[in-house]
Amino acid sequence: MDPLMALLCLLSLYPGLAAAAPSCPQNVKISGGNFTLSHGWAPGSVLIYSCPPGHYPSPVSRLCLSNGQWQTLRSTRLTKAVCKPVRCPAPVSFENGMYTPRLGSHPVGGNLSFECDDGFTLRGSSVRRCRPNGMWDGETAVCDNGASHCSNPGISVGSVRTGSRFGLGDKVSYRCSSNLVLTGSAERECQSNGVWSGTEPICRQPYSYDFPEDVAPALGTSLSHLLGATNPTQKKNENVGRKIQIQRSGHLNLYLLLDASQSVAEDDFRVFKESAILMVDRIFSFEINVSVAIITFASKPKIIMSVLYDSSRDVTEVIDRLDNINYKDHENGTGTNTYEALNSVYIMMNNQMQRLGMKTAAWLEIRHAIILLTDGKSNMGGSPKPAIDSIKEILNINQKRNDYLDIYAIGVGKLEVDWRELNELGSKKDGERHAFILQDTKALYEVFEHMLDVSQLIDTICGVGNMSANASAQERTPWHVTIKPKSHETCRGALISDQWVLTAAHCFRHADEDRSLWRVNVGDPNSQWGKDFQIEKAVISSGFNVFAKKQQGILEFYGDDIALLKLAQKVKMSTHARPICLPCTVGANLALRRPPGSTCREHENELLDKLSVPAHFVALNGDKLNINLKTGTEWTSCIKVVSQDKKTFPNLTDVKEVVTDQFLCSGTKEDDNPCKGESGGAVFLERRFRFFQVGLVSWGLYNPCGSSDKNSRKRAPRGKVPEPRDFHINLFRLQPWLRQHLEGVLNFLPL
Ligand SMILES: *[C@@H]1O[C@H](CO)[C@@H](O)[C@H](O)[C@H]1NC(C)=O
Ligand SMILES: *[C@@H]1O[C@H](CO)[C@@H](O)[C@H](O)[C@H]1NC(C)=O
Ligand SMILES: *[C@@H]1O[C@H](CO)[C@@H](O)[C@H](O)[C@H]1NC(C)=O
Ligand SMILES: *[C@@H]1O[C@H](CO)[C@@H](O)[C@H](O)[C@H]1NC(C)=O
Ligand SMILES: *[C@@H]1O[C@H](CO)[C@@H](O)[C@H](O)[C@H]1NC(C)=O
Ligand SMILES: *[C@@H]1O[C@H](CO)[C@@H](O)[C@H](O)[C@H]1NC(C)=O
Ligand SMILES: *[C@@H]1O[C@H](CO)[C@@H](O)[C@H](O)[C@H]1NC(C)=O
Repeated sequence: MDPLMALLCLLSLYPGLAAAAPSCPQNVKISGGNFTLSHGWAPGSVLIYSCPPGHYPSPVSRLCLSNGQWQTLRSTRLTKAVCKPVRCPAPVSFENGMYTPRLGSHPVGGNLSFECDDGFTLRGSSVRRCRPNGMWDGETAVCDNGASHCSNPGISVGSVRTGSRFGLGDKVSYRCSSNLVLTGSAERECQSNGVWSGTEPICRQPYSYDFPEDVAPALGTSLSHLLGATNPTQKKNENVGRKIQIQRSGHLNLYLLLDASQSVAEDDFRVFKESAILMVDRIFSFEINVSVAIITFASKPKIIMSVLYDSSRDVTEVIDRLDNINYKDHENGTGTNTYEALNSVYIMMNNQMQRLGMKTAAWLEIRHAIILLTDGKSNMGGSPKPAIDSIKEILNINQKRNDYLDIYAIGVGKLEVDWRELNELGSKKDGERHAFILQDTKALYEVFEHMLDVSQLIDTICGVGNMSANASAQERTPWHVTIKPKSHETCRGALISDQWVLTAAHCFRHADEDRSLWRVNVGDPNSQWGKDFQIEKAVISSGFNVFAKKQQGILEFYGDDIALLKLAQKVKMSTHARPICLPCTVGANLALRRPPGSTCREHENELLDKLSVPAHFVALNGDKLNINLKTGTEWTSCIKVVSQDKKTFPNLTDVKEVVTDQFLCSGTKEDDNPCKGESGGAVFLERRFRFFQVGLVSWGLYNPCGSSDKNSRKRAPRGKVPEPRDFHINLFRLQPWLRQHLEGVLNFLPL
């Protein structure tokens, strides 16, 4: 920042004081890294350093004091800031085996190998690798002989364990060596079910943070997985509830607590705000009964939205309140009072309980999820633990009701985070971890997707896909099905209800084939979740005739290339099988969060709202590929190249004879092109975390899958004639046909 800018900054922040307040010196550069300032060079400003991956800054931050001096966490001496290489901690001890190499600490990319003595079996990872966040990949290696009631809980890297008996009721405790910070449970007890209480303690470097992929297994693995399969006599434990349950019955209260204290710079607060908006929008996308409370806090909490307000159930209102949150609300009390913030949640719960009645189902069936977005540096109000205890008490959290409360403490951004404090806050149910530090909003979103458990969502809610990069292809597009007519060529299709599949008519050109042999594979074709269905009824558009325009020199014509299949049985809804939203239906209207009186025309305007609309189709290997659907003038130029295909369309005078307005057009520039076997699959787009089918893959001028290998696609060579183009049946144009055949299956809106 140049001096003039800095001065302007100062003037705007401290009007009238500008001349008097000393500013802090600007010789604070960090070699190889960067820094940001919360309030320029003025007193009160927080400077935060950042370094490239695999490095961390030291010091992490500085505070500009009123005397114009920089203060770091420990001193006011102006030490030069440097980016230091990240290192992973070394094991302190390892039982019943050995490890190599023996170093004091390990560089990023370094490996640690573990081996067990005779008579012991290795559980966990035999080789672990040091990752750029200072954490080892894999799981703690343990050499166990399976002789005790509980399996050997191991000694995680960097920790020291006290206690070596693993019988019922035995306790072990842990501490971390040198300056590592313990997260998880410092003490664990061997329980009657053969499982250790609490969470595995992990000793972390103070500067470490989480990758989303580290958090996902922490949220989702079952205990049996954690314990490994080395002890077959051990009873496998069912997966304990540890995620936010998304289900129709009952009600979810989501409490979002945003830390706005001094140590959280305004930029970080903005990241909190964005993260909160993302979470709210996603939660509401499931059409469940949810109320959102929003509380910002520093020295004091401020209730922005209470679960007691009716508007807390309205996504627009909630997001509007979030948008208008003001960081400056807390300018006169910038401490961090996490206790008070949580206590305000307790008070809110208490009020709701009074209102609904302590013993009523309405109260008892509410699930509560508290998400604290914070740097964890609580410095007033005392320990937050008593507030958490009060919350647990009022919700009557016990073994049976563990699922009714989840507390997540999450740091996001380039904050200097207090791990100890975060760890105190997050709830520690058996085998799980609820405190995380993530680098950005994107990482938080990834993690949030894993925090949600939609397995209870078993009705036919449409267009819900798993948005996690780590979800399987089928979980991301659960409507996608494979159609196997008797002939060799397969097609794709989309579930549009629990019994109907939408696909292309040309897949069934040979109508004389024996239909009892056709199959539709629903779910995941490569796993236990895939299931073949017989077809009870096939409705193939009577308008479809590939030779209809042969006389005009159009050797193939794909107008009305649409078909519906009724499966012989209803599909059981799951995370792998769910319908997509068909526009112009009541289901799609709910998903778009439009008012009840909306029309089909309005859906079209909202979904095909640009000259070039990003959309997708599913490839043979399950990947979701990208295209751009052209509308208006762009559509006109998109379809032109058809005339270059002299082989299929000799003497063409009007391209619209081939590409009627029944077709959407894609395939320009960087677009992917569908392959032959991908016909009939949905052409879909995403709005508000839901998916809508606007078209179905019909035909194109280029087939990128020459060979039979599902994973090989070839881009069209440059200058190829005709240029690649793809045409998809536009479902907005085939409304009359859809309505005629889906009456009673879907509820349609007025045209
Ligand atoms: C510092 O920040 C600037 C602008 O945000 C960026 O272009 C640059 O790559 C960063 N440098 C380092 C070393 O991270
Ligand atoms: C660690 O192991 C991986 C996988 O075996 C290997 O690619 C890598 O080179 C090893 N790193 C070191 C520092 O030996
Ligand atoms: C998530 O995906 C990444 C690669 O995209 C992989 O390295 C990681 O192991 C996956 N994590 C989980 C929990 O599946
Ligand atoms: C969910 O909310 C709707 C509308 O407020 C209400 O009609 C319905 O009964 C609620 N369902 C449950 C299970 O609370
Ligand atoms: C902070 O204190 C100043 C001076 O008393 C007052 O003008 C301002 O409104 C206060 N800000 C807030 C958010 O309460
Ligand atoms: C997404 O998939 C992951 C991995 O299977 C799962 O843990 C998570 O709960 C799913 N989330 C949603 C919202 O479907
Ligand atoms: C193309 O047009 C010419 C003249 O109109 C006609 O003789 C010929 O049969 C046409 N070709 C096809 C394939 O229709």
